[in-house]
Amino acid sequence: MHEMPSERDDQEESVMLSQQNERLSAADEIVRRRLARRRFLRRSMLAVGGLSIVAGGAGALYMMYPTLSGQFGSTLDLGPKANFPAATPDMLRLNNAGVFFAETARAFIVHLDKRTHFLLTGGSLEAQLAAEQVTRAPDGSFWLALYWRCVHLGTPVAFRNDCLSFKCPSHGARFHCDGEYLSGPAPRNMDRFPLSFNGDHVLVDTGRLLHVSRSSDESWPDTLPRLLPIPQVGCE
Ligand code: FES
Repeated sequence: MHEMPSERDDQEESVMLSQQNERLSAADEIVRRRLARRRFLRRSMLAVGGLSIVAGGAGALYMMYPTLSGQFGSTLDLGPKANFPAATPDMLRLNNAGVFFAETARAFIVHLDKRTHFLLTGGSLEAQLAAEQVTRAPDGSFWLALYWRCVHLGTPVAFRNDCLSFKCPSHGARFHCDGEYLSGPAPRNMDRFPLSFNGDHVLVDTGRLLHVSRSSDESWPDTLPRLLPIPQVGCE
């Protein structure tokens, strides 16, 4: 018996639809795989790029901020206190008594004897010592770390035994042995670093440069009272 034309058409249509569906699902699968591969490649490239940026950034940071441990810019151990014997301000001798140049710290270490005569006493003295970053040791002596560059225009200053004070060779600014301003064009006292002790050793934090207002005998609003009497020797 022959099938009716409409039944045959229906069967053909059904076969065609089924084939078409198979083709579509195969195409879908190919597209899905391509998308997955593309996603994988993109993620890989992003990961590699990210790693490169992180590595490059770390390298740049390392170049910009090299480890400072043991170098200028960090806290330096300058050795035992015994390397810096104390003296009163009238007995100072560079690198022998009371004032020493520490090259690694780019600073003068000043160690004043406990018998040093100050202009202030009691609470005023203590407050002024703190304001000028003077460290008192357990034995009663006084310590300071003074940055070697002049606060006027940056020339390294020299300690002059004949003047019992620091003198800048450029424009003649003069500073007392505790870094207090005496004369010349300097706008403030010598800059200084915090000084502390670790047991018997002297530590200087060269990462913290501290400014101290100018000391004066006159009561200007931006000046501090003096700690030490002005030296009785001139300085040409
Ligand atoms: S740089 Fe020291 S007085 Fe000018």
